[in-house]
Amino acid sequence: MKKDTVRFVCSECGREESKWLGRCPSCGSWNSFVEEKVIASSSNKTQQVMPIIDKEIKSLSDVAVDEATRFDSGISELDRVLGGGIMRPSSVLVGGEPGIGKSTIMLQMLSSSAVQGSVLYVSGEESPSQVKLRAIRLGLDLKSINIFCDTRLEALLDVIEKISPAVVVIDSLQTLSTSTVPSIAGSPNQMRACCYALSMVAKTKNIAMFFIGHVTKEGVLAGPKIVEHLVDTVLYFEHAETGVRFLRAVKNRFGSVDEIGIFRMDSDGLKAVKDPSEFFISTKRGEELPAGIAYTAVVEGSRTFLVEIQALTVPAKSGLSRVYSDRIDVARINRIAAILERHAGIRLSDQDIYINVAGGMKINEVSIELAVALALYSARNGKPLSSDLVSFGELSLAGEVRPVSFLEKRVKASNDLGFINILSPTKLPDLKMSTCKNIKQAIMISSALK
Ligand code: TYD
Ligand code: MG
Repeated sequence: MKKDTVRFVCSECGREESKWLGRCPSCGSWNSFVEEKVIASSSNKTQQVMPIIDKEIKSLSDVAVDEATRFDSGISELDRVLGGGIMRPSSVLVGGEPGIGKSTIMLQMLSSSAVQGSVLYVSGEESPSQVKLRAIRLGLDLKSINIFCDTRLEALLDVIEKISPAVVVIDSLQTLSTSTVPSIAGSPNQMRACCYALSMVAKTKNIAMFFIGHVTKEGVLAGPKIVEHLVDTVLYFEHAETGVRFLRAVKNRFGSVDEIGIFRMDSDGLKAVKDPSEFFISTKRGEELPAGIAYTAVVEGSRTFLVEIQALTVPAKSGLSRVYSDRIDVARINRIAAILERHAGIRLSDQDIYINVAGGMKINEVSIELAVALALYSARNGKPLSSDLVSFGELSLAGEVRPVSFLEKRVKASNDLGFINILSPTKLPDLKMSTCKNIKQAIMISSALK
């Protein structure tokens, strides 16, 4: 007879080892291995909660196609990130730090989805009365939402069988456990088993299943990353400085992952931010700018908005220059600084460089490089740029300014907000725009603007 054994599982990525390791060889996390008991006979039992999708082997041509349908969640920003509404059936993981608003948005979504059929909120974190108080605060129709506060997977499967819900929210996946897996709730094996069983149930019973997963820095609980491959869509909630929250898709079987949803938390729940530019521009329009500020437009999925890049340079404290930048990749800033120094004669190698994006948004787009270079130039020289100037361009190591994608969208977003001086390497027909071939020329043109 087989004996029970122990194994160690990385709570961040799920790697299994027979010995405890201080650092995970797969994902590099420190102190992330947790001990799990493996009961010799458990593997057969585990199968009991894993529904079988189809027992028969058949030719693909004989397979009947299930019609998946999409419906509006009632929250435009969530629909946008999901690729145009909630798919049914589907399984969606919503991750984020505690307190960011996962329970709030899911309760709001459930209430507005109640027209689809019965909806079920499963809470292992809060009591029914706590959930009710939250729903009252959010002004939701209390009758439309069913609540089930339990942490046992088997009990939950029975409830699903009984009420056949259209939409289910599990708050949170880390609190759920099945008796067929011998480890504690929140361990990698429990999360995987519960997530797998429920996403299969979602498929067979045509349910839109949402799993809330906490992302904890301490690694006490398993990170939701280990179940990402089991679900159709993975959304993450992120904080920004100004109280704005971003919802991003990092995986989506039913849509693109470029879209972001932008929310702010009010006293009565999360509200969609329709015009993000107002959050991302900290200086008042029309006022003279301080030195070190430049504007550009970023394209996030179907939306384009203006952002403000802020730069500051101070003599290097240690003789060795450093770049401090959380929102834009440090390597990119170093490269832009080197290009400015070599091709525009701006000395930066003896300076510490600070770069920020107002509103706290992280940006990866290459099109912002020209604006970063102009902000740095303005900071170093102490001369403000024109408050009506927006620039777009990627910089090459040879100091050339390269064209950007979606120029038309970016120009339109800029004009809509009253930015009339547009600088870019290419021009749109019939529009007043300045063009520049290289960084030196870009600096000359922008310095001449008032
Ligand atoms: P919550 O949804 O509980 O976060 P999570 O489930 O991700 O842990 O919401 C967190 C915060 O939002 C909490 O500190 C209270 C605040 N809040 C509001 O400001 N307004 C509201 O209407 C609600 C419901 C919560
Ligand atoms: Mg919560």
